[in-house]
Amino acid sequence: MHRILNRRQLSPNVTQLDVEAPRIAQIRQPGQFVIVRRAEGAERIPLTIADADPVKGSITLVIQAVGKSTRELVALAPGEAIEDIAGPLGHPTDMIERGHAVCVGGGVGTAVVHPIAQGLSRRGVRVTSIIGGRSREWVIFEAELQRLGEVIVCTDDGSHGRKGFVTDALKDILAAGGVDIVYAVGPVPMMRAVANLTRPLGVHTIVSLNPVMIDGTGMCGGCRVSVGSETRFACVDGPEFDGHQVNFEELIDRLGTYREFEQQAACREEECHLGQPLKPGTQR
Ligand code: NAD
Ligand code: FES
Repeated sequence: MHRILNRRQLSPNVTQLDVEAPRIAQIRQPGQFVIVRRAEGAERIPLTIADADPVKGSITLVIQAVGKSTRELVALAPGEAIEDIAGPLGHPTDMIERGHAVCVGGGVGTAVVHPIAQGLSRRGVRVTSIIGGRSREWVIFEAELQRLGEVIVCTDDGSHGRKGFVTDALKDILAAGGVDIVYAVGPVPMMRAVANLTRPLGVHTIVSLNPVMIDGTGMCGGCRVSVGSETRFACVDGPEFDGHQVNFEELIDRLGTYREFEQQAACREEECHLGQPLKPGTQR
């Protein structure tokens, strides 16, 4: 069992949970993730390790409440526990050792960018973070990233920082030159837009992919993505890949496959909340 030590609301639907996991806290590296199962029989959810404290023996998970399982997870209070946490999984981030790195985080993807920026900053790399959200209350990890370098905040409505998408700010930084690498994590259309900006300039770009994951061991094939001419499994070969080689259209298509099932699960939960019984034969 992994006890919740601390719970913090980062944005209207994003929650931070600091969870006891001493072994993972000791060995995790930037870019790695865990698969969490709240209780026996619950869905397995892949989550990035946004931070870790080896002294306290805790890891920081950042969860966007999008469906039934993630809503149950973020409802856990300090003192309650998660039954299983498997990890760390995936390859650590490929880091440069010197130069200028731009870390682009869109929405909840900013939590994934945080450990990458930490790792780069520890190596002495100059880090510029560009982070974005729909409006002020959706921007996360701003203070944490400010400790690691320059931060440019973008909001779609201009309520905080610069008005516009993170790619607008990235365009200006790329035009100024001197960028050695770009790391981008966020919605797939954002990562595709970043790759489209950096490709003609030949600036190496690493993206972190979030396809559907089931076992996290390379056995089920659920997380397969096309990178260059190869099929790769995000859980064991990634989750980070060369953004210029990723087939984003296929990824968007595959991510949409289960949307209908997720909506059905959410509707069943809603019926339950309203106190109406589930239809006979309906599975939960
Ligand atoms: P969002 O849709 O609110 O977008 C956040 C920001 O990303 C926007 O403010 C904008 O600056 C930028 N952005 C969005 N679409 C863009 C586009 N087409 N072009 C350029 N910039 C764009 O983000 P959200 O609601 O927090 O959703 C985050 C998404 O990231 C989810 O779909 C989630 O599944 C995904 N995610 C990915 C990873 C990963 O490892 N790749 C990890 C966590 C979450
Ligand atoms: Fe099953 Fe990656 S999650 S192969």
